[in-house]
Formats: sequence, C-alpha cells, structure tokens
Amino acid sequence: MAGLVITHSPTPIIALDLPTLADAKALVARIGPRADFYKVGLQLFTREGPAAVEWLRGESKRVFLDLKLHDIPNTVRRAAESAAALGAELLTIHAIGGEAMMRAAVDGAGPTGVIAVTVLTSFDDAAYAAAIGVPGTTVVDTVLRLADRARACGARGIVCAGTEAGAVRRAHGDALGTLVPGLRPPGAPVNDQARVATPREVRDAGATWVIVGRAVTAASDPAQAYEEICVALG
Ligand code: C5P
Repeated sequence: MAGLVITHSPTPIIALDLPTLADAKALVARIGPRADFYKVGLQLFTREGPAAVEWLRGESKRVFLDLKLHDIPNTVRRAAESAAALGAELLTIHAIGGEAMMRAAVDGAGPTGVIAVTVLTSFDDAAYAAAIGVPGTTVVDTVLRLADRARACGARGIVCAGTEAGAVRRAHGDALGTLVPGLRPPGAPVNDQARVATPREVRDAGATWVIVGRAVTAASDPAQAYEEICVALG
C-alpha cells in the first residue's frame, strides 16, 4: 500500500468462540505450543467466567478479553480493573461509549491495553447508516473519527476491519494499534461478517493484531489451518 511502512507482521490471536472451557482446552491442545495468544469472548466468558482466563494464564498463554464494554464511565472503570486483575493483556470497550467512558476504562485497566471497537465488522455502509439513522454515514469515516478519539483517550488500539486498517495506520502510525477480525483465507465462507480480509490483505494493511476465529476453530485440522494463516501473515 503506497506510503505505508510496515514494521511488523500482525500478531495472530485465536478466538476461543466455544461453549465450554472443556471445549477450549481441547482446541488449545490440538493447536499446540505454536499458538500463545487467545481471545476469551462473550460466549465463553458468559458460561465459564474468570476460570477461562485463569486457565489460559496458568498455561502461560496471553489473553485478550473481548468483552466489548459499553456502560457509564464508573461501571466500565470497575470492570476494567477486574479484567486487569485477571491478567488480561488486552480488553475491548466500545468507542461509541464516549470519551469519558474510554478514559475511565484506560484508567481502570492499568497495564492492560484498552482496545476500542469502532464499527463492528458485521456492518457494511448501508446497514451502518440505517442502524444509526443518518443517511450517507460511511463506515470508514466513522472508524477514522473514533480512532482519533480513542487515541486521545489513551487507548492502545482500535478494532476495525482489514478494509480500514491501512487508513488507520497511515493516520496514526505506531501510536495506535489496529486489531482486525473478519479474517478469511481466500474463498472461505464469509458467515455473518460483512467486511472481511485475507491474511495477505491484513498484513499489507499493516495491522497490529488479527483475530483468527472460524478459519481455525471450524477447520477439520485447526493446527494446520493456523499454521497456514501464520505463513500467509508473514
Ligand atoms: O469466526 P470469525 O473469524 O468471524 O470471528 C471473529 C471474531 O472476532 C469473533 O470472536 C468476534 O467476536 C470478533 N470480533 C468481530 N468484530 C469486531 C470485534 C470482534 O468479529 N468488531
């Protein structure tokens, strides 16, 4: 991409979007020592709670706690403190929660990096404009505006699609990381995502982290699928 200086390959994070901790343990065992960074999201955390994070930490795995917090500032500050106490390395909040909420999250999270979700990758332009009721609103403009605010509030990075990651990186360089979900190897099913990107596209956009979900968790051989994605990410 013109004008973009890429200093690193994206770090892959495997999404443990599974019903139980037993399922998560089985998947981690199948993938093996090659993978060291896992995401605990709403499905697993709602069922298993902190035990999922504690087990991963006990296995010396790095944890991204994807709770997408969005509440009044004090509530989010307290939740961020709890996430930090669990040893999560990264925690998500919604940037649309506003600046006071984002600053409270950063304050509560301490050493845990706060990542602000901009526009969910399940939205395209038309669905997003309809959802917020403002015709003509584009996803990329909203992502760039929320990225500015997130950086000003001390967030370590933002969540956006591979389709916007290059623009965010050009605007912010290394001062703001980009975490990209919606990864799909060429030809893989899109499922419920609207803005997807291949591993090469994510790498070329200069993303910092990439969420590897169904491309690995639904594969017949998750270890091999993960290995192929790592190779493509460079
Ligand atoms: O299976 P798939 O690769 O689509 O998984 C995407 C993962 O990324 C899910 O765990 C989802 O919660 C997460 N995510 C997302 N869009 C965001 C933030 C996180 O899809 N904006």
